[in-house]
Amino acid sequence: MAASRVHTRCLCCLQKLFPKPKLNPKLILNNFSSNFNLVKSRAVSSVLSKDGWGKGAKFEPFQVMVERRRSEASRSILFFLSERSCLENLIEYCNSHGKVQNCFEFYQNAYFAVVEFKKKESVKLIQERVYSSRGIGRFNDELIQNRLLKYNIKSSQASTIRPKNIVNKDFPNSQLIKTVCHGDSVSNQIEMLATEQALTDEGIRMRFLVCTLIEDACRKMFPECEVLPFGSSVNNFGKRNCDVDMFIDPKIGHGMIPVAQSAKKFKVEYDQSSADNERIATQNTLRTLSKYLEKCVPHCTNVLKILHATCPLVKFKHQALGLSCDLTANNRGAIDSSEMLYIFSKLDKRVQPLVFLIRHWCRYHGLTNKNPGQWITNYPLTLLVVVFLQTRRVPILPKLVDLINADLSFDDIDYSFPDLKGFPHQADDTSLADLLHEFFVFCTKFDFGNQGLSVRHGSVFHNDSRFPLFIENPLVYHLNCCKNVTKALVTKLRSSAAEALWVMDQPGFLDSTPWGIGMLFLTPRKLEKIQKEQNVAAFGKRVGRVLGLFPN
Ligand code: CTP
Ligand code: MG
Repeated sequence: MAASRVHTRCLCCLQKLFPKPKLNPKLILNNFSSNFNLVKSRAVSSVLSKDGWGKGAKFEPFQVMVERRRSEASRSILFFLSERSCLENLIEYCNSHGKVQNCFEFYQNAYFAVVEFKKKESVKLIQERVYSSRGIGRFNDELIQNRLLKYNIKSSQASTIRPKNIVNKDFPNSQLIKTVCHGDSVSNQIEMLATEQALTDEGIRMRFLVCTLIEDACRKMFPECEVLPFGSSVNNFGKRNCDVDMFIDPKIGHGMIPVAQSAKKFKVEYDQSSADNERIATQNTLRTLSKYLEKCVPHCTNVLKILHATCPLVKFKHQALGLSCDLTANNRGAIDSSEMLYIFSKLDKRVQPLVFLIRHWCRYHGLTNKNPGQWITNYPLTLLVVVFLQTRRVPILPKLVDLINADLSFDDIDYSFPDLKGFPHQADDTSLADLLHEFFVFCTKFDFGNQGLSVRHGSVFHNDSRFPLFIENPLVYHLNCCKNVTKALVTKLRSSAAEALWVMDQPGFLDSTPWGIGMLFLTPRKLEKIQKEQNVAAFGKRVGRVLGLFPN
């Protein structure tokens, strides 16, 4: 038997420890994929009534989805595959410890695989048999992140050219435009864009996995803690490269905070200032956690604490999974807002593709930006689309007040979203293309300066604040979630919407190259050329009217 090499941190020296499996790797792969399909279809728990929102669609409640994904992640191991090893052998090896339920390989500066076992005991078994420089099974006591192992068995099949499955990467705009040009209608193009951009199953698994890895690490400090994902990783509006927003609930006594005793030693103790002030407790907790991530948790790099923000956070990168993460504490409300968006996305199948298209359009036209500043961010932008769908002549989405089980007259509410079975739904079959056109009309006509938007009441209200854009935070009464947005940005939103309407109304919209929504993502030079060829005076007048330069 050939000796395998030993990695210094987290590794398995397997050939010595286990007999060669007798199973054919190809068979195992096939087996496991058909099992996975079965599991998937069983997980979908309830079906909406025929007359309800999202007619006939299968609906998995948010909590059920989160629990299912967390369970998958906690039964998964992240393997680093050495140059000489291959996925098929790894699956053979894993199957000899317990049934493998799902597995995929990805490339992140090196080859990795995520293996999900049917039972948690199989993970334990592998951990117990892992070989480290201190001997078999010693590994658990020594290392914090013990579900990140190295598989280093030489494979007879490992080919020199291995495909690189890059999971967390957005497609460039040019490629998306090329793809959607194969669509057969504008509505179909909008759906295609969403399909191309949306998080894949692998991407979702990796995001839940990173949360459980951080949870494992933090449990050395807080044995009961939970680390839960929120935001675009779970709300159905996540792109392939979206960040992972996570929050830690330490589940410790009031006023208890973690403190560093030395570079690598931490303990939990009582702190009076933290007991008196929740924000101070959050800041103290995150300050210590940032040190802990940096010094003790493998693969956490670029750790940056931002403790004076409205919502204090620690940013870091998980190198092996290639994910940018934002860790917050004391932030359960963010889970509620994620659940709310998840439900809105499930209520009507047009919501998700429309939001994807509008997010992409806003990004392309500089209305959103990955850096903080005057820009509208994706969360309020999604709320803008939701209010548009709630307030149109035939609402496509219900008011939040009609959706949740809570008394909205109080601020501090424990929200609960009901089973959507039988939720009344008004028939409306407006196409996605028409909805997009309507959205642009909405943006050009809406009086953002004098009116605010409320998802909670599915209505507009008089905006007597100084904010040029007021989108009420649906779960925190009367707070504006776009306080940062400037008047210039609102003007840009309206003029860009007017420009988009002009483009959509051009006779060549359906037969130019690129056609349809491809025309909404032209370079400024190309757009200018078309404007010159068409009626530039009419275009200028239309945009000018939107901006109030020419009265009607
Ligand atoms: N959030 C909130 N109030 C805000 C901003 C954010 O409640 N003013 C919550 C929302 O649940 C949001 C989550 O925090 O989804 C994460 O915020 P962010 O990362 O800015 O947005 P995402 O929805 O995750 O979108 P992106 O893909 O841009 O990360
Ligand atoms: Mg996010």
